[in-house]
Amino acid sequence: MPNLLMMNQLLNEDILAILEDAAMYAKGEGWKAEEKLFIANLFFEPSTRTRFSFEVAEKKLDLQVLNFSADQSSVLKGETLYDTVKTLEAIGANAVVIRHPQDHYFEELLGKINIPIINAGDGCGHHPTQSLLDLLTIKQEFGSFDGLTVSIHGDIRHSRVARSNAEVLSRLGARVLFSGPKEYKDETNPYGEYVDVDEAIVNSDVVMLLRIQHERHMEKNTNVINEYLEQYGLTKEREKMMKDHAIIMHPAPVNRGVEIDTDLVECERSRIFKQMENGVYVRMAVLKRALQKKTQEEKSNVIYS
Ligand code: CP
Repeated sequence: MPNLLMMNQLLNEDILAILEDAAMYAKGEGWKAEEKLFIANLFFEPSTRTRFSFEVAEKKLDLQVLNFSADQSSVLKGETLYDTVKTLEAIGANAVVIRHPQDHYFEELLGKINIPIINAGDGCGHHPTQSLLDLLTIKQEFGSFDGLTVSIHGDIRHSRVARSNAEVLSRLGARVLFSGPKEYKDETNPYGEYVDVDEAIVNSDVVMLLRIQHERHMEKNTNVINEYLEQYGLTKEREKMMKDHAIIMHPAPVNRGVEIDTDLVECERSRIFKQMENGVYVRMAVLKRALQKKTQEEKSNVIYS
């Protein structure tokens, strides 16, 4: 299937193939489509990293970029997501990249859209390309995932990054620890064990911090926000407790001084900006995979949903 909607639809071998491809792009190797292909980037939620790294990836692959802004489109006249995507397909888009605030927005499109859909984040649901760039960053550092301990800290419940990463990291052989305020615990995520923040920090090869997703909270938890850094975040004292080789990751945007001390954002252990760079390579690999799979399916005349 050319769509990329959730990490759990990718087999381990698919993931490793995408990472291998991305690693090639990181070394400067390229791939160019044989014909003129158009990619529509539909962002119904704010984004800096995902949106622009998709655009850079598309331009590096010589793909034609169609940028869509919900607030300058017929969505304002009441056009639905389905009609918007169907319109772009009719106009000639060969794939769509979509970020949307609704969990599983893509379900209303499946079986009705005949171009690949790449999920750039759905509500509190999934963020597969973030997960892939996180995996690439970890693989560059440690060579594999087997036996690593990765702790994910903070707003686990509202984080699509935590949901995508915990499942796939467990599947690839890593041990996942969760840590954070009890208000942000996710009882539906079975892939990690909740531990105290200090225990998580001391035992981790990768310390992955999350932003508090205020925009997805029904009510403000001021109890949680006050003294968040001291209680749950990565302070300079906690950084000193990390294993010598351990790295710091964060999907960003970072709330400096909230989930991480501002001086640690660019410290030697931090791979936060490396993650952003890797986002371009991973998205190149994902776009190529989607377009090639679509071509293969057309050649074999298979109808997919
Ligand atoms: N990490 C991430 O998805 O960042 P953006 O919201 O800026 O795309």
